[in-house]
Amino acid sequence: MTVLRPRPLVAGNWKMNGNKHSARVLASIIQGYDAALRNKVDLLICPPATLTVTFGVVAVGSGVYIGGQDCHTKASGAHTGDISAVQLADSGATYVIVGHSERRADHGESNEVVRAKAMAARMSWLTPIVCVGETRAQREGGNALDIVREQLKDSLPETACGSDLVIAYEPVWAIGTGLIPTIAQVAEMHAAIREVLMARYGEAGAAIRILYGGSVKPDNAFDLLSVSHVDGALVGGASLEAADFLGIAEYYR
Ligand code: PGA
Repeated sequence: MTVLRPRPLVAGNWKMNGNKHSARVLASIIQGYDAALRNKVDLLICPPATLTVTFGVVAVGSGVYIGGQDCHTKASGAHTGDISAVQLADSGATYVIVGHSERRADHGESNEVVRAKAMAARMSWLTPIVCVGETRAQREGGNALDIVREQLKDSLPETACGSDLVIAYEPVWAIGTGLIPTIAQVAEMHAAIREVLMARYGEAGAAIRILYGGSVKPDNAFDLLSVSHVDGALVGGASLEAADFLGIAEYYR
């Protein structure tokens, strides 16, 4: 049986950057997302929550998806400062990042919390992008594969049919540092993640997109995106400029 590669996804994580004028950047991204690119690759921008509604309006009809950067495990209630998946969906989002290493580090999010967030996202028809990745010490200690397998075991939702789940492999030491793993390391990790997904979800595991994230730029994207089982990228810094973000997506043209 031929296993089709999932349709790739290039996702931008704006983190705590951007203001009401940033819709211009999104407009430029939309302008560059021509028919040829639309045929080949999905684009997603995850702005800060303050901009989700505005970005959703700007993106209508463009094919560019809008997502959140985190969601609460509950749908509503007394959780000051938090945002639920239901609210994100209501504001126009169709994806949400959960378990980013900055959330895991800054907010002490455990794998179990990440799993609950992923399930909450799915309850609201949002596609969760579950982030996993090892620290530098774990990589240097030779434990990267074990750590990521453990994170997957405990962070993933019980079920998945394929397109309703995205994984992002983001080595913590590669985020915002300009450092990237070797192509062999990326290939080894993505193959291991695919194995876990197939074991857990059967054939559906072949359709789940596995993104690479961590210092992806236009000048390294072509090498990283050509690796087997790399189905796109999760891009931080380089997603803040339309030309850089589109330069990464160009790989799929
Ligand atoms: P970076 O961030 O591309 O700036 O390294 C990636 C991420 O944190 O998702």
